[in-house]
Amino acid sequence: MVNDDTRKDILMQINLKGKVALVTGASRGLGRAIALALGKAGATVAVTDILLEGDDIDRGQLQDYSPLAGHFAGTDAVKTRATAQEIIAEGGRSIAVRMDVTDAESVNEAIKTVNQSWGSIDILINNAVVMDNFGKLEGQDPKKWDRDVNVNLSGAFRCTKAAWPTMWSGMRGEGS
Ligand SMILES: NC(=O)c1ccc[n+]([C@@H]2O[C@H](COP(=O)([O-])OP(=O)(O)OC[C@H]3O[C@@H](n4cnc5c(N)ncnc54)[C@H](O)[C@@H]3O)[C@@H](O)[C@H]2O)c1
Repeated sequence: MVNDDTRKDILMQINLKGKVALVTGASRGLGRAIALALGKAGATVAVTDILLEGDDIDRGQLQDYSPLAGHFAGTDAVKTRATAQEIIAEGGRSIAVRMDVTDAESVNEAIKTVNQSWGSIDILINNAVVMDNFGKLEGQDPKKWDRDVNVNLSGAFRCTKAAWPTMWSGMRGEGS
């Protein structure tokens, strides 16, 4: 079992100072925890999500492709900006950016914002997910299947494709 002290020690040993990380689906849950951990390890963190605090969002529309996002929109459970603020309050660098991984334009815009702020992305965490549709094959709704693939699989593809050019130039020492 890894206790809190051990976890803190491990994070202190991982030094990500100078690295820029982008986490998708970081308004809550594991994405938020990963963003905070990256911040603690010294990384500059872009906290991204389809939901931001105080959204005046059409819940009905969100229900179509993420009932959970629709459920949480506009509630205290959304902590995208708060997560960035927590990282900054601990002495780190962070921004909160809206990004819908199903929308290539939204992905490109968010990644452009991060690149313009910090030059490049070194670490990409494809965490955004819809996870409300578990069931046996015979009960599967093809529409929900397509939606899940669009967020959980194609979403990771879109983000990786958009982030890759600067990740690659950073790896080759060509980043600014
Ligand atoms: N929770 C578990 O038991 C578990 C187990 C194994 C793996 N995982 C993995 O961990 C990750 C996160 O799981 P979680 O339990 O924290 O999920 P969660 O449902 O609590 O959080 C998902 C996040 O993704 C965001 N999101 C949904 N649709 C989006 C979209 N189109 N664009 C951008 N953001 C969007 C939501 O707003 C939310 O912040 C997933 O990749 C999941 O597969 C979770």
